[in-house]
Amino acid sequence: MLVAGARPNFMKIASVIDAIRVLNSSQQQPVFNPVLVHTGQHYDEQMSKSFFRDLDMPVPDVDLEVGSGSHAHQTAEIMKRFEPILLKESPEILLLVGDVNSTVACSLVAAKVSYPASCSTRLRPLIAHVEAGLRSCDRTMPEEINRLLTDAISDYLFVTEVSAIRNLKKEGIPRERIYLVGNTMVDTLLRHRGKAKDSTILSKLKLNLSAGNLASSSPIEDGQENMRRAKNCRAYAVVTLHRPSNVDHKEAFGEILEALSIIARDVPLIFPVHPRTANRIREFKLDGSLHFLGEESDWEVGDAGIHAVPPLGYLDFLSLMSNASLVLTDSGGIQEETTVLGIPCVTLRENTERPITITRGTNVLAGTNKESIVSSSLLQLHRVGKSRRPRLWDGKAGSRIIKILAGVLAGR
Ligand code: UD1
Repeated sequence: MLVAGARPNFMKIASVIDAIRVLNSSQQQPVFNPVLVHTGQHYDEQMSKSFFRDLDMPVPDVDLEVGSGSHAHQTAEIMKRFEPILLKESPEILLLVGDVNSTVACSLVAAKVSYPASCSTRLRPLIAHVEAGLRSCDRTMPEEINRLLTDAISDYLFVTEVSAIRNLKKEGIPRERIYLVGNTMVDTLLRHRGKAKDSTILSKLKLNLSAGNLASSSPIEDGQENMRRAKNCRAYAVVTLHRPSNVDHKEAFGEILEALSIIARDVPLIFPVHPRTANRIREFKLDGSLHFLGEESDWEVGDAGIHAVPPLGYLDFLSLMSNASLVLTDSGGIQEETTVLGIPCVTLRENTERPITITRGTNVLAGTNKESIVSSSLLQLHRVGKSRRPRLWDGKAGSRIIKILAGVLAGR
């Protein structure tokens, strides 16, 4: 059984589903009989449905339809609705990804469930956590609590980078449960990079980039710095923001927007606005500093300013990011994606649970104060250093995971 709940889960689980398809079709009898559960933590067209289409994912077998709510409400509601499904299906393995409320809720249910003796060889499913071991060491982040708890009760911990092995060992997780497999989000990026070139987002935004000069038109390889500063390109940067610590407090959010307004004098910013962030912009009346692009047919990004658009689908966002001069973000996954694309990234946080994006990739931590966001961004806009793709971020993480889990089933 595979669980996905929120936007960043979909890219991570897509690669595992693909790997199951490939393995099953290479055997006479399917090795896995997967059941896909969507918790419904994210539920609308822009945050969920378009991702299933873009990533060619199967319709979930079960949709728990939990929707939004406080952390306690959302987590409890997922647990209540997930338990009967788990008992009914009694899977041998439960595979969870990432660090969202859906991840911790379903892992807690699985760790304590007791299957009826008649329906399985086991009392409970083995819990496999993909993207285990990442730590920001900041327990004010809801995701950090979700990571710590999920890892503590998982049986198989699949990690993306070596720092995660160290973190898990420090927490007393036996080494034999930990597997360095690479990054399933990167699998999905590499698989869809070609399709993203057909996205029409750049022309919709009237970004008159000359096709011959685009970063995405040249192969993205280890050590290659992207070429987007070619003369005819109208440069732009991309912004994403949704962390509660950045957008839920008026002063903190206002300071970030001031920094963005300064940067936007040099380079236009395109800002796909997350629903949480959109709510706060309205509530705090911060809309004055943004230029909201209205109807799609009227979109046009000027030479300067912060241009707000609704959240974008996977392929459109990948295309936008691939051709940007710079990405400013507080997302975890985008730090990894920009590392692989070779696009300079400025992370608007005090810490990152993904240190490899700094030591090998294109990421810098700017913190959240105005001066440091502006100075880091200007430096990053002129970055010349090379990035190296982290070890095993090669598009094969999903198949490594599935191979290990097939071995578990074979040995039962
Ligand atoms: C969640 C995850 C976060 C992840 C982020 C990616 C947790 C604790 N947080 O945060 O780790 O990086 O998703 O997006 O699990 N909303 C919609 N449509 C939707 C879903 C949500 O409008 O389809 C609105 C909700 O009404 C709510 C807001 O977005 O007001 C926040 O959604 P929520 O799932 O609570 O948390 P995120 O901030 O998205």
